[in-house]
Amino acid sequence: MCGIVGYIGKRQAYDVLIKGLKRLEYRGYDSAGIALLSDNNLNVYKTKGKVSDLEAFAQGKDIGGTMGIAHTRWATHGEPNQVNAHPHYSQSERIALIHNGIIENYSELKEGLLMHGFTFQSQTDTEVLVQLIEYVKNEHAVDLATAVQLALNEVVGAYAIAVIDLDNPDVIVAARKGSPLIIGIGDDEYFLASDATPIVEYTNKVIYLDEEEIASLDLINGLHVKTISNVEKTPQIKQLEMTISQLEKSGYPHFMLKEIFEQPRTLTDCMRGRVNISENNISIAGIIDHKDKFLNAKRIIISACGTSWHAGLIGKYVIEEFTRIPVEVEYSSEFRYRNPVIDRDDVVMVISQSGETADTLAAAQLAKSKGAFLFGICNVVGSSIARTTHAGCYTHVGPEIGVASTKAFTAQVTVLTMIALVLGKEKGTISEEMYLSILKEMSRIPEKIISILKQDNLIAELSKIFTYAQHFIYLGRGFNYPVALEGALKLKEISYIHAEGYPAAEMKHGPIALISQEMPVVVIAPMGGVVYDKVVSNIQEVKARKGKIIAVVSENDRTVREMADHVITIPETDECLYPILTSIPLQLLAYHIAVIKGCDVDQPRNLAKSVTVE
Ligand code: AGP
Ligand code: GLU
Repeated sequence: MCGIVGYIGKRQAYDVLIKGLKRLEYRGYDSAGIALLSDNNLNVYKTKGKVSDLEAFAQGKDIGGTMGIAHTRWATHGEPNQVNAHPHYSQSERIALIHNGIIENYSELKEGLLMHGFTFQSQTDTEVLVQLIEYVKNEHAVDLATAVQLALNEVVGAYAIAVIDLDNPDVIVAARKGSPLIIGIGDDEYFLASDATPIVEYTNKVIYLDEEEIASLDLINGLHVKTISNVEKTPQIKQLEMTISQLEKSGYPHFMLKEIFEQPRTLTDCMRGRVNISENNISIAGIIDHKDKFLNAKRIIISACGTSWHAGLIGKYVIEEFTRIPVEVEYSSEFRYRNPVIDRDDVVMVISQSGETADTLAAAQLAKSKGAFLFGICNVVGSSIARTTHAGCYTHVGPEIGVASTKAFTAQVTVLTMIALVLGKEKGTISEEMYLSILKEMSRIPEKIISILKQDNLIAELSKIFTYAQHFIYLGRGFNYPVALEGALKLKEISYIHAEGYPAAEMKHGPIALISQEMPVVVIAPMGGVVYDKVVSNIQEVKARKGKIIAVVSENDRTVREMADHVITIPETDECLYPILTSIPLQLLAYHIAVIKGCDVDQPRNLAKSVTVE
């Protein structure tokens, strides 16, 4: 993980870099640091903790200079302390470097450098790279860009790096492999960042650096890009579509709450141009353009991590239901290393909010190399996964900043449902009546979410009762089983309360032993469908053991309402669309419990938004 930002131009670099780091802080917040180059000085300031700690640390120090690089860390090698914080100096302190990724062969490289008399301050893999660059630069008497290129040829692993050097005061050298980097082009100035958020307020002209490319952001000679094998490249300038207002909290105390409340709009955006009520039609260009691949597929394999994996599991239920195409759902981290059976008749779908998750990117590359048709569902436009796939479909929910995914999840589920309906119609495996009824229901989802959000105060009150709990169980069945998993994940990651999501009927095969009067059990039990009565029985089983039941039920429900200790209601909808609605109260429940417990909701401990390391 880690956030990287760089600036070279005529502005005071410190201000641009600190602001940029704050935007990237969701990517990691173990430590923060900055390197500024001015008047033949290369100053590095770094500290454990957040960007605000760095600002306090830098106060009163020389923060002048119109070029610099800065970093916010999510530690992989070496504990999160000041020494291990980036930027790292080279031995002579004439070069400074920031890095996102893992240098896998760092110990071999380190041994070699130790033999050449280099000494090391930190336990990081990163410091090895800056020393290697210095060694190569001196040994071959080359400029910085060449030294970086030669050094990277020795490196095994993943990196996005930015390097500055006292001997080359007009250039930042940056490179990437496996971790993202975007360059912003202004008037006589360049920006560099892990994503577009630090760049958007200065320019909308960007270049997405490709795998194994090295860029020289040179104030005198302009921008140059080459590969690590020294092949010159012509960079493609793209237009950014992001706006600054999307990056602000708009009066909400946390990004997570803002993003939960944005869902009526984000799902409208997600369905715009796709769900067409007046024409009674759903269309997704990425699917229609490649429909033969899907219709002839022997099976679909969905690969993703975390919340996106939960969306994938709902995708399995809905795609199998309406298309009868078998769907398998895989954790990307398992899929990529277990020599999976993939052939040319398979469609592999990867789902990722960030489009940068290292395991999902690797799963995508693997599937592609085995000849499968690769389809992506991503949120971040132009992200690495989006660029790796043969075709895809964006969720269009705008930047998701809260580390806990909310609006991206409901949009992923919406996209998967649309895909199931499009394919079902093409294949003739869904009746016209069912297709039309779901289509109509989909268009009502945003207004139904508005009515759920009105219960925010009620859920906040309810949350107060349960802050005592050390454990929670979430139960759901059918389409709502993955929602139980997702509800439990949300609670765990932001409130640090242990939570298990379970298929309701599986509870009796083990977890039922955990039920006692202290145990809150969240049951997702909307009416309709074949499993409702079964869930009612499962609730009885919990009740018989004195568990505390919080039930998410349909507005007209009577049965569960009478049995549950607390209820949260949702409007009725079609069975396959319930996950979009039932996940909303669970997001709010996790949010309020975490806030009451005083947890850092937007930046929970140990986590980071996009996991660009293995
Ligand atoms: C969600 O709340 C999590 N923080 C996490 O599980 C996330 O969904 C996962 O890391 C996958 O991220 P991606 O969608 O960006 O690939
Ligand atoms: N491996 C580097 C470190 O631990 C960078 C970490 C990262 O990108 O997550 O400092």
